[in-house]
Amino acid sequence: MPTIKEILQTMDYGPAAESTKEALAWIDGHERRFGLFIDNAWSAPLDTFASNNPADGAELAQVTQATEGDVERAVQAARRAQPGWVALGGHGRARIMYALSRQLQKHARLFAVLETLDNGKTIRETRDADLPLVARHFYHHAGWAQLQSEEFADYRAVGVVGQIVPWNFPLLMLAWKIAPALAAGNTVVFKPAEYTPLTALLFAEICQRAGVPAGVVNIVTGDGRVGEAIVNHPGIDKIAFTGSTEVGRLIRKATAGSGKKLSLELGGKSPFIVFDDADLDAAVEGLVDSIWFNQGQVCCAGSRLLVQESIYEKFIGKVKARMQNLRVGSPLDKSNDIGALVDPVQQQRIHGLVESARAEGCEVWQPNVELSTSGAWYLPTLITGASTSAAVAQAEIFGPVLVAMSFRTPGEAVQLANNTVYGLAACVWSESISLALDVAPQIKAGVVWINTANQFDAACGFGGYKESGYGREGGKEGMYEYLTPLAEDARPAAPLVAQQGQVKAPDAGSPFALDRTAKMYIGGKQARPDGAYSRAVNGANGAFLADVGEGSRKDIRNAVEAAHKASGWAKATAHNRAQMLYYIAENLAIRADEFAQRIALQTGSKDAAREVAASIERLFYWAAWADKYDGAAHQPPMHGLTIALNEPVGVIGIVCPNENPLLGFISLVAPALALGNRVVAVPSEAHPLSALDLYQVLDTSDLPGGALNIVTGSADELARTLASHGEIDAVWRHDGSAEGCAEVERLSSDSLKRTWTGGAKGRDWFDPKQACGRTVLQHASQVKNVWIPYGV
Ligand code: NAI
Repeated sequence: MPTIKEILQTMDYGPAAESTKEALAWIDGHERRFGLFIDNAWSAPLDTFASNNPADGAELAQVTQATEGDVERAVQAARRAQPGWVALGGHGRARIMYALSRQLQKHARLFAVLETLDNGKTIRETRDADLPLVARHFYHHAGWAQLQSEEFADYRAVGVVGQIVPWNFPLLMLAWKIAPALAAGNTVVFKPAEYTPLTALLFAEICQRAGVPAGVVNIVTGDGRVGEAIVNHPGIDKIAFTGSTEVGRLIRKATAGSGKKLSLELGGKSPFIVFDDADLDAAVEGLVDSIWFNQGQVCCAGSRLLVQESIYEKFIGKVKARMQNLRVGSPLDKSNDIGALVDPVQQQRIHGLVESARAEGCEVWQPNVELSTSGAWYLPTLITGASTSAAVAQAEIFGPVLVAMSFRTPGEAVQLANNTVYGLAACVWSESISLALDVAPQIKAGVVWINTANQFDAACGFGGYKESGYGREGGKEGMYEYLTPLAEDARPAAPLVAQQGQVKAPDAGSPFALDRTAKMYIGGKQARPDGAYSRAVNGANGAFLADVGEGSRKDIRNAVEAAHKASGWAKATAHNRAQMLYYIAENLAIRADEFAQRIALQTGSKDAAREVAASIERLFYWAAWADKYDGAAHQPPMHGLTIALNEPVGVIGIVCPNENPLLGFISLVAPALALGNRVVAVPSEAHPLSALDLYQVLDTSDLPGGALNIVTGSADELARTLASHGEIDAVWRHDGSAEGCAEVERLSSDSLKRTWTGGAKGRDWFDPKQACGRTVLQHASQVKNVWIPYGV
């Protein structure tokens, strides 16, 4: 008689096919041809292309390739609709968004089947993951609409938003984009991916049923050219993009200097770290979710498996055994784990990468499973023996391919985890909570899942570090992406010119009167310019004041190196950082008169004393924030917590305003330091002496060398170097140079640095509304969400 184990091994699931009747009837109801949804009306289908079922290659429908004229119409409709949508008020919008959520729930199965047909992902996923998350997103954001006047009182909607999404989570990405945009009072022009437009078109109908006013949601279909037309349209105020890093870069370049707000959610190569004390069976299940969910076509897929050496063989054995049991086949079969890839193009791309690894001598392991001959399929694949620099270990494969490596110590795990240009997500598996929570902050990624994988919730922000992009979707931080501070509207059209007063010569004996060659400040030391050139600084009356170094590419390199060496600053306690800023303020106060005289000499300002007083207050202000810009503990619908941490961005290059040489400098440098960033600052090009005078204050304030570096010279040239430098994480430019700001944005696209630029407009640096507050804190930090489930 066979044993129970033997019986279980021979048991299999029978086919459990989901009916496609309603979904196909819906497509048929449109005669399998779709126009565009603009201003609450359908255009006639013109210049169409096919959307196919990836599981069998059969055509599902013809969809319209929108033209530039269509995009123009959509933008105009959105523009017309926007004031009315805002005027509905938070409650009015909340009601409509609630109706949308209900409609999505009522038609959840239709959406799920349609998504499976169009995308190839399994019905289990569309039904149990995508659709519940979609509805949850609209519910959650209906709530933000309701609370907007209370929680975002100092903000307004950005305006008309262009949104472009990929094909891997067509409806979920739509929800992530449209829900926060509508909640905040924006109207949208939305483009689904060319492979998967159908659920967005069904959503358009749902909008009509839920009473979304005409023009608030416009859906234009087509390929990258339609995306480009949206990105380049001058009537669009913000672009929100999810997709490849390559296209993200193009969009960054295209929007440079346009003033459009931008959020980018790009690629990933996320590590899945297993320590030797992990619950290995649970980790294997987590891994299945992490890399084989949606055929691995997931931006945050755990595609790099890092296993502690002592358990490596054992764990790999368990992974292979589990892979053998993964069911690959018809996505409509409810018992299948892995469906079809979105298109044969992706299949070929994945095949190419895997074969290149095989050719390089890696071991490629796949379970012994038969695949259908029609459609786009790829077997779950495990690659071992790859070097850390191999293409399969570095490139986003975007398929069901896992690359495994071992590590010895937690330090090595962190180093391997961070050895990528991406920084979207990571998984850490260990039964030791202190080990896991020690590792999580060291990983440069926007999301860290501890003992779990691929968890998402509308209340928890999602988004990347490094070349995985910037901006967050979900959570309160996601709402800010769709809001503009009212203080931005109050900014003056151009930098303010100081009112001139009487200029007094420096007192005899003042150190400032003697020092006529002010050096730069790098790594905590005064530094001569590498090129040995200086530039003369003249006072307001035209008379020579001093020479300052003509900073060059090499000086910036030295400063960035020093900043990287000062990584201890990011780890210093917030209390310590606050103390340091208070201390700088105290030492500045002691020399307030000298500083005021120097400002007056340079700028002729009659407000120099007020500028020094405001600078001291500003230091106090940012010292106060240093230990108060706390994150949040979210309670998503799971048994556990998600901790949102505000982490420093890293090394920030700051080009300071020309006006208010002390207050402008401190207003930008102090918040960056307060939150643990290290800074390479370019002080006012016209009046650099006040920032240089400050290093005498810094020296007496014990600021660690390298935390703040000051390089003087041409703002344009130094900004260019900062924006092109691969080891700088963000560049801020606020000297009123529109072209200079555009250039920073353009150049930042290479390594996808974050930027904060002021454009041609000025800023009243005395006005706390314009110069302080949450917006500055957000620029100086990035949110990491750490998911910590409870129990077993
Ligand atoms: P893609 O980035 O080209 O497409 C994403 C969206 O951007 C689509 O709606 C597309 O029509 C649009 N688009 C394309 N070119 C554009 C342009 N110049 N301006 C504005 N919009 C544009 O991604 P694609 O070609 O679908 O996939 C290629 C590879 O990209 C994948 O194999 C994968 O490695 C990666 N990818 C990563 C995603 C992620 O979420 N991390 C999502 C999709 C793709």
